[in-house]
Amino acid sequence: MSHLVAPSLLSANFLDLGTQIRMVNHSEADWFHLDVMDGVFVPNISFGFPIIEKISALASKPLDVHLMIIDPDRYIERFRNAGAAIITVHYEACTHLHRTLETIQKSGAKAGVALNPHTPVLLLKDIVYLADVVLLMSVNPGFGGQKFIEHTYHKINELQELISKVKASALIEVDGGVDMMNAPKIVSGGANILVAGNTVFGNVDPMKIIHELKNV
Ligand code: DX5
Ligand code: ZN
Repeated sequence: MSHLVAPSLLSANFLDLGTQIRMVNHSEADWFHLDVMDGVFVPNISFGFPIIEKISALASKPLDVHLMIIDPDRYIERFRNAGAAIITVHYEACTHLHRTLETIQKSGAKAGVALNPHTPVLLLKDIVYLADVVLLMSVNPGFGGQKFIEHTYHKINELQELISKVKASALIEVDGGVDMMNAPKIVSGGANILVAGNTVFGNVDPMKIIHELKNV
């Protein structure tokens, strides 16, 4: 499988969201990446259900919803109903992660688990078989436009080894600071999904950058 590209709308122009969504629809991007922040798990607040419902109505590609919120179990059904195709929760925010991933899958969505930069990959040893996606944060979550943490390459390797060791099928998603300089190494290292916010929406020609990210 060639890798997927998921533009993060966090860096999009919210005054002109419709145009940006149509651009992603017409581009070679595979998913929309939507960052939901609660101001508690991360020091920022982004957007919630009303915005996601509107995005869902216009988007022609799956919505990859990254929940940076505490106690996400309370809202899984609502994110699914708002249009989420993939729901990713943080390892650090879930006391009963096994139950949470099962609840996501029962809702009909794919289930993802995200790790902060400081969280060891090996903590997923007894749960990775259940995940459809593992998202490695390559910046500290909360903001777009930050610098890629180089140690992530090592975590991608470790995660690949873990996935093959336990014969799991989770896709590896890398989120934060992805640009045209590091994307080739992230993909050749084993990532299956590239999230890119600032690199896509901060560029004068986002369609072209998406094309380039698809072809690294
Ligand atoms: C950060 C978010 C990312 C962010 C990526 O907390 O999870 O998805 O939007 O943005 P860039 O690509 O600009 O680092
Ligand atoms: Zn994200």
